[in-house]
Amino acid sequence: MGVLEIIEKKRVGLELSKSELKEVFMGYNDGTVEDYQMSSLLMAITINGMTFEETLNLTDLIIASGSTMDTNKVKGVMVDKHSTGGIGDKTSLILGPVMASLGLKMGKLSGRGLGITGGTIDKLESIPGFKVHLSKDEFIECLNKVGFTECEQTEEFTPLDKKIYNLRSVTGTVSSIPLIASSIMSKKLVVGADYILIDLKVGSGALIKTKSEAVELANTMIDIGKAYNKLVIPILTNMSRPLGDNVGNALEVLEAMDVLKGKTGVLRDLVVELGSVLYSRVENINLDRATKEVKRVLDDGSAYKKFMDFVRVQGGNIDKIELAKKMVPVKSKTDGILKDISASDIGELALELGGGRMKKGDAIDYGVGVVINKHIGDHIREGDILCYMYQNDEIDREELALRAFSIVK
Ligand code: URA
Repeated sequence: MGVLEIIEKKRVGLELSKSELKEVFMGYNDGTVEDYQMSSLLMAITINGMTFEETLNLTDLIIASGSTMDTNKVKGVMVDKHSTGGIGDKTSLILGPVMASLGLKMGKLSGRGLGITGGTIDKLESIPGFKVHLSKDEFIECLNKVGFTECEQTEEFTPLDKKIYNLRSVTGTVSSIPLIASSIMSKKLVVGADYILIDLKVGSGALIKTKSEAVELANTMIDIGKAYNKLVIPILTNMSRPLGDNVGNALEVLEAMDVLKGKTGVLRDLVVELGSVLYSRVENINLDRATKEVKRVLDDGSAYKKFMDFVRVQGGNIDKIELAKKMVPVKSKTDGILKDISASDIGELALELGGGRMKKGDAIDYGVGVVINKHIGDHIREGDILCYMYQNDEIDREELALRAFSIVK
C-alpha cells in the first residue's frame, strides 16, 4: 500500500498494520516521506486515535529507528522519570540530583518544548556550554560519574521521535494519547531503566486536560511497559497552575537551583512526592521512610552538589547563564484576592516573549520568561506587582499577562 492510501485508511478510522506504520514512519525517518504527508497522518491519528496494537507497534518502530543503551555498563539501579509536560515544570532538574544523591542512577532522554509546554532540553541549553547531545558511551560515563544525566534524543537514540516530536509541536497534534504514549515510552525503553515514573500532568496547562484522558494515557503506558517487562508508575498531578514561580528556560534552571538550595513551596512538595514514591518502590520501604530520605538529601545540600556536578560534567557553566535585558513589572489594576493563575495563559505569554517555538526550527530566546510575584490567596492592592516579564523586545504584553491572574473582590 502506498503512503497516500495509508493516510486515507487512518483518515477513515481504520487500524494500520505494523508494515503500513513502518512504511510511513520509517519513510519519514529516512526522508522519503515528506513533512506534509506525516503532518496529515499525525492529524488523522490525533482525530481517530490508535488501537493498543498500533500504539505498541509505533513504540517498537521508534525504538528500532535508533539503538538502545547497554545498561549492563551502568553500575547500580537505574530509574527514570518523565513528565508529560507542563508550564514551569523543572521537576527533573531537581529530582535527578535527589535520586543520584540517594545512590540511584537516573539517566534521561528528554525533549524540547512542545506547544506552550516547556522542554528540559531547551532549559538545559540555556546554560552556556551545556552539552545536550551525548553519545551512548558519554551517556553511560556521565551516569556512572554523577548518577544523573540528561540528553536529547539523537541519531543514536529514538531519532524518529525527535522528528515526529518537532512536527507535532507545530501541527496541532501534541495532545494525542497514542502519540504521547509511544513518544514517552520509546525514550524510556531505549534507556532501559527498570523503574519508570511518569508524572502525568492534568489541567489547562498540560497536554492532557481531563482526568479520564490521563487515566487512559496512564493505562496505555503501563501496558506498553508490561509488554517490555518494565514497571511503569504513573502519578497524576495537577497542571492548571504554573509549577513554581518561574516560567522560561534560564529562569527555570535558576528556580530549580533555588529549590536545591532550600526554597520551599509547591515545586519542592512535588519533588518530594515523586521522589518518595519512586524511592520507596525501588528500596521496598514504606513511604514515610522514603520521604525522610528524600528530604534529607534536599536539606543537607547533597542534591545541590549533585546538580552542580551534573552541569559541570556535561560542560555547562552555570555562572554564565543570562537573563533577558528588561524586567517589566505587571501591576494589578484592581484590589481583591488572587483566586487563580492560569497555566495556559502564562505558557502562552512565555511563548509570545520568545521562550518557545511557534513553528518548527524557530530559535528560542533562553533568557525570556515570567516570574510570578504573588500566590493564590494573596490579598492584592491596585498597583501591586503580579509578575515580571523578562523580555528583549519593546512589545507591550501587559494585557496578555493580566489575563492570567483572576482577582476577585
Ligand atoms: N513528552 C514526550 O516526550 N513526548 C510527548 O509526546 C509528550 C511529552
